[in-house]
Amino acid sequence: MKCIALINFLVLQCLAILGVSKGFDFFYFVQQWPGSYCDSDKFSCCYPTTGKPAADFSIHGLWPNYRNGSYPQNCDPNNPFNESETSDLISSMRRNWPSLSCPSSSGESFWSHEWEKHGTCSESLLDQHSYFQTALTLRQQTNILQSLKSAGIIPDGGSYSLANIKDATKNGTGYTPWIECNEDSSGNSQLYEVYLCVDSSGSNLIECPVFPKGKCGSEIEFPTF
Ligand SMILES: *[C@@H]1O[C@H](CO)[C@@H](O)[C@H](O)[C@H]1NC(C)=O
Ligand SMILES: *[C@@H]1O[C@H](CO)[C@@H](O)[C@H](O)[C@H]1NC(C)=O
Ligand SMILES: *[C@@H]1O[C@H](CO)[C@@H](O)[C@H](O)[C@H]1NC(C)=O
Repeated sequence: MKCIALINFLVLQCLAILGVSKGFDFFYFVQQWPGSYCDSDKFSCCYPTTGKPAADFSIHGLWPNYRNGSYPQNCDPNNPFNESETSDLISSMRRNWPSLSCPSSSGESFWSHEWEKHGTCSESLLDQHSYFQTALTLRQQTNILQSLKSAGIIPDGGSYSLANIKDATKNGTGYTPWIECNEDSSGNSQLYEVYLCVDSSGSNLIECPVFPKGKCGSEIEFPTF
């Protein structure tokens, strides 16, 4: 038994040294609040050609990350986004992963950016179809808006405590989120993105091994959409 364990260990070490590994440690699953994208000074927002998205958190991306805080990107230029590989998911992607950038689009350029920059770095485990399916499944499993609402935190333009927002999300999802803020056009700090961490298989939420950098006020706005 000991010998087998040792051989396993050596094989894994060897694969790691040869760089034959999954190539990242965990994912950030990032959801954004459309109201904070649209009222920010930094972005202008355009609704997708399919219409105004629902007033709910939507997917920004599923990003492979290293435990040391850095991340791989653009891992395979020979594997561009091919919409026909996810044709069965498109209607769900339109609903849950809409693009708000200008000019208005159907989302294809957003999805292809996400796949090419981030998704290709997980392709040893998830092909394009599984990558998008995984993100959509995580979206169904984590209803951030519902978690916030059950704690009385609603997108009414009011100000809420950052600690309560984190608590409410943890109560709803079971895991501690990272909250990213941006500023509205008057310079108020507001709830922009919610990061949760997922193991490298894409199936299980985990506590984040490392949080991104950035800072919010201790009271932040939750704008309408
Ligand atoms: C973080 O870890 C990855 C994978 O082990 C490595 O390639 C990268 O150089 C490291 N980055 C920093 C800033 O330490
Ligand atoms: C895109 O995917 C479809 C379906 O898998 C495939 O038939 C087609 O050849 C692919 N297109 C390119 C440019 O790879
Ligand atoms: C989270 O759950 C704990 C324990 O049930 C409760 O005390 C706390 O008030 C909840 N926090 C929020 C913001 O809902």
